[in-house]
Amino acid sequence: METREDFFEVNRSGWNDRADIHIKDETGFYDLENLRAGKSVLYPIETKELPDLTGKRIAHFQCHIGTDTLSLKIRGAASVCGLDFSPKAVAHARKLGEQCGIDAEFHDASVYDAYEALGGDYDMVFTTWGTLGWLDNLDKWAQAVTDVLKPGGQIYFADMHPFCLMLELDEGSRVVPLYDYDSPKQTPLRFETNVTYTGSNEEVESTVSYGWNHSVSKILGVLLARGFTLDFLHEHDCMPSRFLSILERHDDRMFRLPKNQPGFPLSWSFMMTKSV
Ligand SMILES: C[S@@+](CC[C@H](N)C(=O)[O-])C[C@H]1O[C@@H](n2cnc3c(N)ncnc32)[C@H](O)[C@@H]1O
Repeated sequence: METREDFFEVNRSGWNDRADIHIKDETGFYDLENLRAGKSVLYPIETKELPDLTGKRIAHFQCHIGTDTLSLKIRGAASVCGLDFSPKAVAHARKLGEQCGIDAEFHDASVYDAYEALGGDYDMVFTTWGTLGWLDNLDKWAQAVTDVLKPGGQIYFADMHPFCLMLELDEGSRVVPLYDYDSPKQTPLRFETNVTYTGSNEEVESTVSYGWNHSVSKILGVLLARGFTLDFLHEHDCMPSRFLSILERHDDRMFRLPKNQPGFPLSWSFMMTKSV
């Protein structure tokens, strides 16, 4: 039987391939041009929802090539520390930080080992767009969030909506539920594709990946069980990638359903505070 480590190893290989493609930013998906010009490339949702970051120490879980980590520093954070388990992503993030002249730390580790890698006492954990779907065990994730935050520290989360993650298009381009809303740890969903989500034509060598769907109650529940309180929770009609091919790109870099489609939430975001 395959173990978590087997699934993670396959995923790591896929993320290494994708990091090498993403850092070239041929399609402009990561907006590296603006980042290199000193501008934050956070999406409109988090740009609007994040509080004033001045003076804050931020741990960024699943930082990938560091674009958001560096943007948080541009937004005024006192220090930023990115963590990702793809060595290629971390190497690109470090180099990108140097190129941008932004002081940021990047660590190569699993989310589950965040405290060992980053230490504690952070004001905020930031984690967005492509996060929990790669994790089999949300208790371990929530414990890592709890351990790195100081009392009163906050987690900011934004990602695809769990409802949306159940869906696919059928042959008539109708939206249908295809995936269970909650995946067992030992039997993740298996995906196979030779491309990445940025629209690049470049092919990846590691075509297989494994993912886990998690329900809303499970995601919030693991933090509530550790004494966190909910500051806000929002659902959104947009997301930053073309997850379903019927989505239309808007000028704000976000993708939305076509007007003739009954609406459903494409993404969600929340802020929670650790008890003092
Ligand atoms: C979609 S990306 C992160 C999204 C980020 N907002 C971005 O696009 O720059 C997902 C990242 O999660 C990382 N990742 C997946 N599983 C992980 C794990 N168990 N521990 C740490 N990082 C992980 C991958 O290496 C990848 O860089």
